[in-house]
Amino acid sequence: MTFNYSAGELSIRGHKISDIAAEYGTPVIIYDETYMTGMMRKYHSVLNSHNIPYSVSYASKAFSSVQMIKLLEAENMELDVVSVGELYTALAAGFPVQDVHFHGNNKTPEEIEYALAHGVRFFILDGLDEIELINGLASGLDDGDRVNVLIRINPSVEVNTHDYISTGQEDSKFGLSLSNGAAKLAIDNINNCGKLDFKGIHYHLGSQLDDSTPFINAITNVYAWLDEHNIDIEILNMGGGYGVRYTEDDVRFPIEEGFDAIIGHLKDVVAKSRNGAGREIPHVMIEPGRSIAAEAAVTVYEVGTVKDIPGVARYVSVDGGMSDHIRTPLYGAEYEVIPVVRSSSSSKEVSSHVVGKLCESGDIIGKDKNLPADIKRGDLLAVKTTGAYHYSMASNYNQMRKPAVVFACENGVRQVIKRQTLEQLIENDVR
Ligand code: LLP
Repeated sequence: MTFNYSAGELSIRGHKISDIAAEYGTPVIIYDETYMTGMMRKYHSVLNSHNIPYSVSYASKAFSSVQMIKLLEAENMELDVVSVGELYTALAAGFPVQDVHFHGNNKTPEEIEYALAHGVRFFILDGLDEIELINGLASGLDDGDRVNVLIRINPSVEVNTHDYISTGQEDSKFGLSLSNGAAKLAIDNINNCGKLDFKGIHYHLGSQLDDSTPFINAITNVYAWLDEHNIDIEILNMGGGYGVRYTEDDVRFPIEEGFDAIIGHLKDVVAKSRNGAGREIPHVMIEPGRSIAAEAAVTVYEVGTVKDIPGVARYVSVDGGMSDHIRTPLYGAEYEVIPVVRSSSSSKEVSSHVVGKLCESGDIIGKDKNLPADIKRGDLLAVKTTGAYHYSMASNYNQMRKPAVVFACENGVRQVIKRQTLEQLIENDVR
C-alpha cells in the first residue's frame, strides 16, 4: 500500500489526499495507478519466469472503467467479462476483442449475439444448454470463423473463505461437475458442434484465498480426471482469487512462492500423467481481479454528524455508505479507517463506529475503529483497500450518486470517472 503520511497529511505519490478531495469532492475513490501497473507487471514477470506459455487476464468485475481498461491494454493484459455491460465498456475503451473472454453462469441469448457480432471468439461455457445455444447463434458466422471454448468445471476443492465467494465446491451454481459426468458430457457435445472448438478447462475456486493449497489440489483433481477420460487440453485457466490485505490480520496471497508451488506442481503432474507418458504443458491462464485493484485505492469521505451515546458508543457518520461500500454489510468485511490529516491534538483516540448516511442500521463501514477524540464535522476519513468490488458494486440506493474516481501517479492526478449527477439519477425515468 503506497498511501502514507507526510507531515501529518495522508498522501499518494506526492499528492495530498486532502487536496484531491478538495478538487473532486467526497466521497472519492483514489487509486494509486503505479501500484496497479506494478501488480500487472508482477504477475507477468512471475509467470514468465517459469518458461511456460501463459496469459494474465484481469477480471473486470473487480473494477472496470474506460481508463482502467486502457491501462490493462498498455500492460499486455487480457480481459474477462461476464456481461454485455462489461464487454461494452471494454470495447468502448478500444480493448482488442481477441483478448476478451466471455464468462458467466447464465449468458443470455442477447449477450451471446452481441458478443459474437462484436468479434468475441472466446467463451467460457458454464451449462450444458449453453453449448447448443452458442453453437446455434454462431452458425451465421463466416465459414472457418470458429468459437474457442473452455468449460468451467468444478474441481471439488473446498477453500477457506466467505461462503458467498467460495465457488469451487460441488454444491455451486458455477461450473460443471467432474464427478457426476456433466463436464465430460459437455466436451462430447462441444466436439459434435460445428462452430465450437474445445480448448480446455477453466475453474475459479473462490476469492480472497491466501495460499496455494487449493490451486494445487485442483490441478491434481483435474489431471486425474483428464487421464481417466483421455482428454487433451490446450489451455488451463485457474481463475483468480489471490487474496489481499484488508487489515493487518489478513495474509496476502504470496504471488512468487505461490506460483512457484502451483506451476511446479503442474509441471510435475503433467510429466507423470498418462501413466508416465506425460503431456504438453498447457497454456496457463490466470484471472486476478482484486489483487490488482483492491490495495491500490482508498475511499475518502467527509465526516458529518458525530453522535456520542455516553457509556454505549460513538457513531461517526460520513457522506457515503453502503451505496459505495457494500462489502461490510454483505460479507462482514473489515477495513482500516484512518484520518486524512493527523493533527498534533488528535493523539488521543476513541473507539468509534464509522457509519454511512443511508437509511439502514446495517450501513456500517467499520465498527470499533480508533479515531481521534476530537474528530468533527468537515474532517476527512480514508477507508483503505477499496479498489476492488467497491465502485463496481456501488448502487443508487437512497438515490445516492455514485462517487468520483481518480487515478494518481508520480506525474499527476486525473479523474477517470466523474461523480454521477442528479440529472443522471432520473435520466431513464419516464416523465
Ligand atoms: N475469475 C472468475 C471466473 C471469477 O468469478 C472471479 C471473481 C475472478 C476471476 C476474480 O477473482 P478475484 O481475483 O477478484 O478474487 N464481490 C465479491 C467477489 C466476487 C468475486 C466473483 N468472481 C467480493 O467483494 O469479495
